[in-house]
Amino acid sequence: MSHAGPAIEATALSKRYGDYVALRGIDIRVERGEVFGLLGPNGAGKTTAVEILEGYRERTEGEVSVLGFDPAQRPIELRRRIGIVLQSGGIYSHITPREALRHWAAMYPHPREVEEVIELAGLGDRADARARTLSGGQLRRLDFALALVGDPELIFLDEPTTGFDPEARRAAWETIRSLRDLGKTIVLTTHYLDEAQALADRVAIIKDGRILAIGPPRDLGPGAAHYRVAYRDGHGARVERETEDPTALLHELTSEALARGERLHELTVGRPTLEDVYLELTADA
Ligand SMILES: Nc1ncnc2c1ncn2[C@@H]1O[C@H](COP(=O)(O)OP(=O)(O)OP(=O)(O)O)[C@@H](O)[C@H]1O
Ligand SMILES: [Mg+2]
Repeated sequence: MSHAGPAIEATALSKRYGDYVALRGIDIRVERGEVFGLLGPNGAGKTTAVEILEGYRERTEGEVSVLGFDPAQRPIELRRRIGIVLQSGGIYSHITPREALRHWAAMYPHPREVEEVIELAGLGDRADARARTLSGGQLRRLDFALALVGDPELIFLDEPTTGFDPEARRAAWETIRSLRDLGKTIVLTTHYLDEAQALADRVAIIKDGRILAIGPPRDLGPGAAHYRVAYRDGHGARVERETEDPTALLHELTSEALARGERLHELTVGRPTLEDVYLELTADA
């Protein structure tokens, strides 16, 4: 059974925990084949939103459709088509990665080869070790492997690379890119803004249960069209200028410096990074 709409559509989604309002009516639409990033400070509501979409938590209000299903009904068909890395993964301490992956694969109609996924996750030499003897990063790799083994079309990754060493993070990025190339839809929560910038087609920045901005990383925020030109002047002081036309500004700055017989030390021209935009948008007023 397939439906033609977006992978995810949530409208006016809200969530209360008792008196506390964690989500204040957010709208999210994720197209098929998209990598969608969810960013925001601790406690913003990201895990709440993601786990409602997964069918792990109940919403208070709003409409939600995931692959055409309402996740609150917990349809088995939906469970067979999604893969999940929970923020706090839990695994029995006596089971091994190979056993866990075989067990998990058996719940899906067309799983990937367990051995292939073990290699992909970099668990080769620890595949038969008891889970309690794995390091934090190795356990996180196992969580990631468990999300992939069912070969699902929609994958939810809630801080999947937290605790990964730099090499493992790059390997996970490659895996996420290859999943995207296969046409999978991915929802990725992360605090690593370089990760979101590298992987996400679009991101939403959430704070206090509201979406502050949504769009492709490069178009986000008020300064998206601006370039930043920075250098150190003759006294070593750092100077930063913003412009929409770096060609003209550079011409001006460099000709003035040459006329004075000075150099523009450490001269750089750049666009605001996703981190710049994020910090600006989420700063407390
Ligand atoms: N089961 C719960 N009962 C009561 N409050 C909760 C519950 N789960 C989450 N909250 C609260 O809701 C808010 C949003 O939590 P959530 O876990 O969705 O944040 P998050 O954006 O994922 O944060 P982080 O970046 O730290 O993972 C927080 O203030 C949290 O304390
Ligand atoms: Mg979270």
